[in-house]
Amino acid sequence: MDPGTASTSWGLQLGVVLVFLLASGCQGLNHEGWLLLALKSQMIDTYHHLDNWNPKDPSPCAWSGVNCSSSSSSSRLAVVSLNVSNMNLSGTVGPGIGGLTELTSLDLSFNEFSGAIPPEIGNCSKLLLLNLNNNNFDGTIPPELGKLAMLTGCNLCNNRLHGPIPDEIGNMSSLQDLVGYSNNLSGSIPHSVGKLKHLKTIRLGQNLISGSIPAEIGECLNLTVFGLAQNKLEGPLPKEIGRLGLMTDLILWGNQLSGPLPPEIGNCTNLRTIALYDNDLVGPIPATIGNITYLEKLYLYRNSINGTIPSEIGKLSFAEEVDFSENFLTGGIPKELGNIPGLYLLYLFQNQLTGFIPSELCGLRNLSKLDLSINSLTGPIPAGFQYMTKLIQLQLFNNMLSGDIPPRFGIYSRLWVVDFSNNNITGQIPRDLCRQSNLILLNLGSNKLTGNIPHRITSCKSLVQLRLSDNSLTGSFSTDLCNLVNLTTIELARNKFNGPIPPQIGNCNALQRLNLANNYFTSELPREIGKLSKLVVFNISSNRLGGSIPLEIFNCTTLQRLDLSQNSFEGSLPNEVGRLPQLELLSFADNRLSGQMPPILGKLSHLTALQIGGNQFSGGIPKELGLLSSLQIAMNLSYNNLSGNIPSELGSLALLESLFLNNNNLTALLETEDSVVDNLASVDLSHPPLPRHPTRSVALWARS
Ligand SMILES: *[C@@H]1O[C@H](CO)[C@@H](O)[C@H](O)[C@H]1NC(C)=O
Ligand SMILES: *[C@@H]1O[C@H](CO)[C@@H](O)[C@H](O)[C@H]1NC(C)=O
Ligand SMILES: *[C@@H]1O[C@H](CO)[C@@H](O)[C@H](O)[C@H]1NC(C)=O
Ligand SMILES: *[C@@H]1O[C@H](CO)[C@@H](O)[C@H](O)[C@H]1NC(C)=O
Ligand SMILES: *[C@@H]1O[C@H](CO)[C@@H](O)[C@H](O)[C@H]1NC(C)=O
Ligand SMILES: *[C@@H]1O[C@H](CO)[C@@H](O)[C@H](O)[C@H]1NC(C)=O
Ligand SMILES: *[C@@H]1O[C@H](CO)[C@@H](O)[C@H](O)[C@H]1NC(C)=O
Ligand SMILES: *[C@@H]1O[C@H](CO)[C@@H](O)[C@H](O)[C@H]1NC(C)=O
Ligand SMILES: *[C@@H]1O[C@H](CO)[C@@H](O)[C@H](O)[C@H]1NC(C)=O
Ligand SMILES: *[C@@H]1O[C@H](CO)[C@@H](O)[C@H](O)[C@H]1NC(C)=O
Ligand SMILES: *[C@@H]1O[C@H](CO)[C@@H](O)[C@H](O)[C@H]1NC(C)=O
Ligand SMILES: *[C@@H]1O[C@H](CO)[C@@H](O)[C@H](O)[C@H]1NC(C)=O
Repeated sequence: MDPGTASTSWGLQLGVVLVFLLASGCQGLNHEGWLLLALKSQMIDTYHHLDNWNPKDPSPCAWSGVNCSSSSSSSRLAVVSLNVSNMNLSGTVGPGIGGLTELTSLDLSFNEFSGAIPPEIGNCSKLLLLNLNNNNFDGTIPPELGKLAMLTGCNLCNNRLHGPIPDEIGNMSSLQDLVGYSNNLSGSIPHSVGKLKHLKTIRLGQNLISGSIPAEIGECLNLTVFGLAQNKLEGPLPKEIGRLGLMTDLILWGNQLSGPLPPEIGNCTNLRTIALYDNDLVGPIPATIGNITYLEKLYLYRNSINGTIPSEIGKLSFAEEVDFSENFLTGGIPKELGNIPGLYLLYLFQNQLTGFIPSELCGLRNLSKLDLSINSLTGPIPAGFQYMTKLIQLQLFNNMLSGDIPPRFGIYSRLWVVDFSNNNITGQIPRDLCRQSNLILLNLGSNKLTGNIPHRITSCKSLVQLRLSDNSLTGSFSTDLCNLVNLTTIELARNKFNGPIPPQIGNCNALQRLNLANNYFTSELPREIGKLSKLVVFNISSNRLGGSIPLEIFNCTTLQRLDLSQNSFEGSLPNEVGRLPQLELLSFADNRLSGQMPPILGKLSHLTALQIGGNQFSGGIPKELGLLSSLQIAMNLSYNNLSGNIPSELGSLALLESLFLNNNNLTALLETEDSVVDNLASVDLSHPPLPRHPTRSVALWARS
């Protein structure tokens, strides 16, 4: 709206109100009353909060939301505050507001006002407080607001304002609190911000503010909260922030700030929270950070910070949470961290840290969450960890830790998540990990553990995931596991387990992933497996299982990966396989299955790999396999007794990378299109293989 039309429609409204007043025979209502009625005429007051705004009153001073001055110095009572907060009002705010020149407080917050903020508000030159937050105001911030030289608080948050923060903001020389988060404000922070000597709070998160942080911010010596998270700020953090000695909160996460952390940050000795995560910061953590005596929360994660963690970190004796994860930190974990009595959370995962885990950490009586995963740490898990009573989450995966797990782990702490996977840990699984009945995740996969799974683990009721693959564990499949109501994952692959898979497996109602591959499980697959209605992954490859495949397994209709390969299953592949429409991997390779391949295989439209080589299937290849349009990884039918034509329909498997039909008695011609042949990374249709022909309509013979 340009100012011309604004004043025209404003004049019109005033006229309408005047005519109305004359018609109703009223003489008394003062000028400010008219202005308020004109404002009301543009508002929609569904819940009748403003019904007592009566044109017959001589003044608006008794109207709801309105207060007048009580000073006797002025001959007339002037409206000094207007508060219609939280009245479900909608519509727009008219320019008449600018006529209320004695206003000190204007609160329109928590309504549904839309349209622009009227620039005329700038005429309310005595305003101390302006709350327009939590509405649907759109448009830009009018530069005229800069005229509000007495304004101390300006709250515009949770609107739809766009455009830049006007430079004129620097003229609001009394401003203490500037709140404008959750809008679409753009442009850069005006340099004039340095003129706001009284500024205490800047909260402008969740906007589109770009550019770099002006050095002038260092002139706002009273700034306590500096919040601009989730914007598009770039460039370095200016060293001038070191002058902000009263600052308690530095909240700039989720920007694109680059460059190193200025050592001057150590001069901000009143900081309680530093949240600089999710930026592009580089360089070292300055040692001066240790001077920020009262710091409670230090979040530097997800940057590109490198160098070593300074030992001065140990001077932060009030720190509760320290998170340096997902950076490029090198060197050791400073033992001085053990000096921080209140430390509750320490996340250093995904760095390049080396050396031993300092045993000094064991002195941290309040430490509850420790994650040192994905580093290059060596040496043992400190024995003292087992006595840390508050520890609930301990993640040390993907390191090079060795030695045994301290045997009393779990006795003194309510362990909840324990992940030591991908290390070189030896010895046995401590039997008390679940002693406090709180354990949900136990991942000790890819280590060198031996012995049985302790009974107290297999009967741990709270357990959701049990992941022990790639160790040298022994024993049989405990039926206790089948009573754990929340268990979704059992991964025991590549160990030395033996004995049968018990029929009680059918009680594991919640089970989604069951991986028992590469063990010594024997006997037949129990038909109760069919009760696992949530099973997504089932892998019993490379065991010593036999007998026929129980039909009930095809009741597990959510299966995506079914791998029974390298066992001794016999009998035919039943038509019921067609009841597994979600299948992506189907492998029966290297068993003793016989009979015909069921054409219904062609209905498994999500299949990316079909592995049934190394059996005794006979008859022809069903042409329906040509319908498996998702097949990409491989189709392997080799080493069977298949005969007859290779159906030309296989030529439509456009994504397929590997096709193995060798070692059968297939004698037919396969007409392929270029695309098929081009995508095939490896083809073996024959024995010995025939050369590939890069021409259209390639004829490939397959003969065993
Ligand atoms: C009006 O003033 C009175 C007395 O100062 C105060 O209690 C009341 O909250 C004020 N109302 C508004 C709407 O500002
Ligand atoms: C306006 O009134 C609401 C209550 O309706 C109150 O919570 C709020 O503090 C008032 N605003 C001002 C600026 O006094
Ligand atoms: C605001 O509107 C909601 C329904 O949209 C209603 O439940 C609530 O009572 C209204 N509040 C006021 C203060 O009018
Ligand atoms: C009020 O503000 C408008 C727009 O900012 C301006 O054009 C107008 O002259 C002002 N009126 C008075 C009386 O100051
Ligand atoms: C800064 O804050 C202090 C303490 O709140 C106050 O005394 C002082 O007047 C403020 N300075 C400015 C320029 O606002
Ligand atoms: C701020 O920190 C820097 C570097 O750490 C230091 O040289 C400087 O003297 C400090 N300035 C003040 C005012 O404390
Ligand atoms: C701040 O920290 C640095 C480095 O640790 C130190 O040299 C300096 O003396 C400290 N300054 C103050 C004021 O504590
Ligand atoms: C940190 O990274 C910067 C920028 O990539 C590089 O110049 C500097 O040498 C690195 N410092 C260390 C200690 O690796
Ligand atoms: C485990 O230790 C062996 C030597 O015993 C070493 O070769 C291997 O790299 C180590 N693996 C891990 C993941 O630390
Ligand atoms: C299973 O999970 C549910 C939901 O998370 C939880 O309320 C319940 O306590 C858990 N059961 C056991 C035995 O831990
Ligand atoms: C499971 O499969 C068997 C054999 O295919 C069938 O007889 C039975 O009705 C199925 N059970 C359920 C619950 O679908
Ligand atoms: C292969 O099939 C042909 C007929 O197509 C048959 O004569 C021959 O005996 C078969 N060879 C073997 C090894 O089964």
